[in-house]
Amino acid sequence: MSDRSLLTVVLAAGKGTRMKSALPKVMHPVAGRSMMEHVIALALAAGGDRLAVVVGPGMEAVGKVAQKAAPGAGIYVQEKQLGTANAVLAAREALAEHKGDVIILYADTPLTELATIQRLRATLDAGAAVAVLGFEAADPTGYGRLITDDKGALLAIREEKEATAAERAVRLCNSGVMAFRTVDVLSILDSIGNANAKGEYYLTDAVEIARAQGMRAAVAVCPEEEVLGVNSRDQLAVAEAIWQRRARLAAMREGVTMIAPETVWLAYDTKFGRDVVLEPNVFFGPGVTIEDDVRINANCHLEGAVVGKGARVGPFARLRPGADLGPDVHIGNFVEVKNVTMGAGSKANHLAYLGDGSVGEKANIGAGTIFCNYDGFFKHKTEVGKGAFVGSNSSLVAPVKIGDGAYVGSGSVITKEVAADSLSLERSTQESREGWAAKFRIMMAKRKAAAGKG
Ligand code: UD1
Ligand code: CA
Repeated sequence: MSDRSLLTVVLAAGKGTRMKSALPKVMHPVAGRSMMEHVIALALAAGGDRLAVVVGPGMEAVGKVAQKAAPGAGIYVQEKQLGTANAVLAAREALAEHKGDVIILYADTPLTELATIQRLRATLDAGAAVAVLGFEAADPTGYGRLITDDKGALLAIREEKEATAAERAVRLCNSGVMAFRTVDVLSILDSIGNANAKGEYYLTDAVEIARAQGMRAAVAVCPEEEVLGVNSRDQLAVAEAIWQRRARLAAMREGVTMIAPETVWLAYDTKFGRDVVLEPNVFFGPGVTIEDDVRINANCHLEGAVVGKGARVGPFARLRPGADLGPDVHIGNFVEVKNVTMGAGSKANHLAYLGDGSVGEKANIGAGTIFCNYDGFFKHKTEVGKGAFVGSNSSLVAPVKIGDGAYVGSGSVITKEVAADSLSLERSTQESREGWAAKFRIMMAKRKAAAGKG
């Protein structure tokens, strides 16, 4: 692959009116990460050592997200949407400084694969000055058509509004992704005018301009779904579905069993070990790592969590950010864990809230236990020691410590430290009256009979 340096220009200026959203279009997520960040990740993976992101006026927040994803990225503002060539030229400064290849990507097109970008660049290696990523459109309406000669060389891109009937019959379309290998890309872009049906500066004119200067243009073709552009929420859902299908397949190929793959939702960064089994209806938000031999039972929601080797989760469990389960931990039904480290072999099998703290190795948290972590103002920690046993329906009012090997009696409200290996009970003493129930039943039966006669 090429060792020429690469500048990627990511066009993110679109307002995305059809999304009907306060959020800029490119910030809408696919698999838990904004579409723009997907595209930036692709650029970085392609070896894009330099990145220019073109945003619209008032989109400073988008620029900040871009710089977080790629700290060296230059952010440029396209003041007015005068066309795709004008958008690229907003990054003039970056283009002027750069010596090497240039790739243009759209931030609303999150499904392009790295191998495809590499194939596109390979056409530059083979001598093309301009390379265009094309696809066979099921319905070409609205796309620019790729006009090629009988040897497959790219002659021009014709926008639909300018196309002749014969050109409109072409199904090979422009995805919008373009790459340049030329000493002076600015001279090509600056030659583009706006004397066309839309009165816009068409980036696509670069093909004919380069050819007129004696350069070659070429096409690399990819499947249509890789260049699906998102303009509306229904297209966003289509992009999500495609992304999920790919990610499930990749996970299964790496040794994850999914009983009903179409019901499992993954995030862009979900990590799996080997021999993980996922039952139906499991949702992964960002930041989850699942180690080897874990089973996630049906209907669980996980986000920002680590699940250690051999652990079991669910059914109906919720792991929130900071849930860090060691090996062989058991988290059962209706248990929520947030910001708690759980030692190896510890268990919370039923109906519990564990928030902010730690649970030692082999400790057992009984059904109905609550870590009372919040006093309305601050969050506090609950520390449960190794091998401790917390009886059912206990409230542990943080900050509080339960020592190693200690017992907490069921139903206790614990507000003070429980020493190691001791028992703490916090409930009134049980009162018992022998024979009371039998006498009570006889008395009540008589009353009922008397009432019946009356
Ligand atoms: C463009 C291509 C067309 C291709 C299609 C693929 C041109 C002239 N045409 O057409 O050949 O088939 O994409 O989807 O390039 N943008 C800006 N600033 C602008 C104009 C556009 O940032 O001034 C951004 C848009 O937000 C969008 C992208 O560039 O994300 C494409 O622009 P759009 O106007 O949708 O181009 P199309 O007419 O779809
Ligand atoms: Ca478009």
